[in-house]
Amino acid sequence: MTAPKVFVTREYPEIGLNRLIQECNTEIWPGPLPPSREVLLEKVQGCAGILTMLSDGIDAELFNAAGDQLKVVSQYAVGVNNIDLAEAHKRGISVGNTPGVLTDATADLAFALLITAARRMIEVHQSIHEGGWKTWEPLRHIGWDLTGKTIGIVGMGRIGYAMAKRCHGGWDMNVLYTSRSEKPEANQNLQAQKVSFDELLANSDFISVHTDLNDKTAGLFNADTFKKMKSDSIFINTARGGIHNQPDLVQALTTGEIGAAGLDVTDPEPPELSDKILHLPNCIVAPHIGSATTKTRDDMAEIATDNLINGMLGKPLRCEVK
Ligand code: DGY
Repeated sequence: MTAPKVFVTREYPEIGLNRLIQECNTEIWPGPLPPSREVLLEKVQGCAGILTMLSDGIDAELFNAAGDQLKVVSQYAVGVNNIDLAEAHKRGISVGNTPGVLTDATADLAFALLITAARRMIEVHQSIHEGGWKTWEPLRHIGWDLTGKTIGIVGMGRIGYAMAKRCHGGWDMNVLYTSRSEKPEANQNLQAQKVSFDELLANSDFISVHTDLNDKTAGLFNADTFKKMKSDSIFINTARGGIHNQPDLVQALTTGEIGAAGLDVTDPEPPELSDKILHLPNCIVAPHIGSATTKTRDDMAEIATDNLINGMLGKPLRCEVK
């Protein structure tokens, strides 16, 4: 029996790759940048499985280019907003993702962005390099206290809960959240309270976004919502850049409608170097690294490889997106 053809759209941890090389006819896109659309459409031809990254657009055009033998798309991420799920399911193509294993790494990064923004670390670091450290200063570089404040969690799933746990357990913060349903574990363990979106905006000192990007959440944070937030609040987004309207966020940070922001995600990704979001003293931006630790990326690769192999064998995926 000939080994099934697989295309891996980017460099990928060895722990996942070795099995694919052993068990399949695997081609790996070698560069650090994604293949062009044209190349991607060419490479997927005849594949039974495709191992995708969040930067690949996976849609009807790609499925047509791949052909009828395509059985599974295995995404090396938990978020799948780049994949047309309805189209995949219509064609009987399974879609896998990697939930659970990146929870702590992503929550750690959300908290790192919060404390970095609150203590103005980027601004003060830069000031030293510009010769600004002349003496100990009583009234300069003053930041935000974290202890006892209120954190608003938008999306109390696994990562939202892990962020809330850090804020409540480590910094005695009150936890407000929005979510489709009540979260008894958060209510009980973190004394968290489910509130309306407007209540969360009005009463949170810090807001951290942990929801999916979908039709309902695209542009959720915009000129109107930033106006409803406290003027010294800090906005954190480690989910997807499309959840905030970036020009509106720049405006809110510039005019003092909100105090600061920490972003691991932008819209688009990457932003142009001239994008104002990269040049504000009160905004720290990371290049979408929430899951970027060795163990997390290895664990993600094991799941993504299992998903791909199971899907090609017609078995249930370890983590299937329905
Ligand atoms: C995800 O998994 O969706 C993250 O954004 C990248 O690891």
